[in-house]
Amino acid sequence: MKILLTGASGLLGNAYALAAVRRGHEVIGLSNTFKATAPGLARCELIDGRDHERITSLCLEIWPDVIVNCAAISSPAQVDAYPALAEQINVALPRLLAQLGTHLGARLIHISTDMVFDGRSKIAYRSTDMPQPANLYGQTKLMAEREVLEHNPEDPLVLRIPILMGNSLKGSRSIHEKLIQTIKNKERPKLFCDEIRQPCSAENVADVCVELSERRDLHGIFHWAGTERLSRFEIGQRILKHFNLPVDAIDSAMLSDQSNCANRPRNLCFNLHPIVSKLKTKAVNFQDQLNSLTYCAPLRG
Ligand SMILES: NC(=O)c1ccc[n+]([C@@H]2O[C@H](COP(=O)([O-])OP(=O)(O)OC[C@H]3O[C@@H](n4cnc5c(N)ncnc54)[C@H](OP(=O)(O)O)[C@@H]3O)[C@@H](O)[C@H]2O)c1
Repeated sequence: MKILLTGASGLLGNAYALAAVRRGHEVIGLSNTFKATAPGLARCELIDGRDHERITSLCLEIWPDVIVNCAAISSPAQVDAYPALAEQINVALPRLLAQLGTHLGARLIHISTDMVFDGRSKIAYRSTDMPQPANLYGQTKLMAEREVLEHNPEDPLVLRIPILMGNSLKGSRSIHEKLIQTIKNKERPKLFCDEIRQPCSAENVADVCVELSERRDLHGIFHWAGTERLSRFEIGQRILKHFNLPVDAIDSAMLSDQSNCANRPRNLCFNLHPIVSKLKTKAVNFQDQLNSLTYCAPLRG
């Protein structure tokens, strides 16, 4: 299949390119400033996601079977700092891709986030639960979901995913890369014991997306995550242990004790039904996610 992949240089986009090429698909990547380098990528174009004219003409030129949208302003802090840009990349770009998908008869796989929920639920969120974002990033991602469903009503596929583990092209995107870099900078990260996540590896999400790219019988909004629910503090400790780094390099804290963290969802866990029983790809445990990580930069000396 011919696949147009936005965000090809990102943590997930790069993993998707590798997985799709491995399955024999032709992948044309799109990124903004950083050229994607996944081996086997047919080509990578640098196009700003705000340039709808160039994106439209590229789509008409290659006429993809599938469009996978991994482009985003993916950091909540960046969204707060640049709300207009975030609206254009996180909302207007998915709207355009949904319209193009409908026009071309291409399947659109749009990536969303657990942050469409506010994290107040005590039980795992189902894909049918009512979203209620706690921050602007979550709001833009929820607006995007609605645009995709509205403009690609025949064949919509929105996959909500949790915080991602993995090795990013830039070496600075995923949890372990950020954590180790912070410690290298001689800072002491403070991680919350009551901020619960269900992390997943970018590789595993990529495998799910490739499988979904090859199937047109699944439509709607789905949840995917790893098999374990862990606090941000536990995640940090397990990463440090895995890399033989001192676990006392991080401090623990309670989100419930903070007065300025209203926009941080407390408990973001996913119920993976019904998709988990419909795919060949299996959810992965945290140890397997850790085992696929690399980081070579020395922490001390
Ligand atoms: N990472 C996570 O923990 C996580 C968790 C939940 C959901 N998600 C979602 O998963 C998807 C992929 O996230 P990610 O972590 O892979 O993101 P990422 O590593 O930050 O990559 C973002 C991608 O978007 C591209 N992009 C940014 N601004 C752009 C612009 N103006 N025009 C065109 N492209 C632009 C970037 O291109 P350049 O590299 O060229 O700038 C990059 O390829 C996103 O929808 C995100 O919301 C991620």
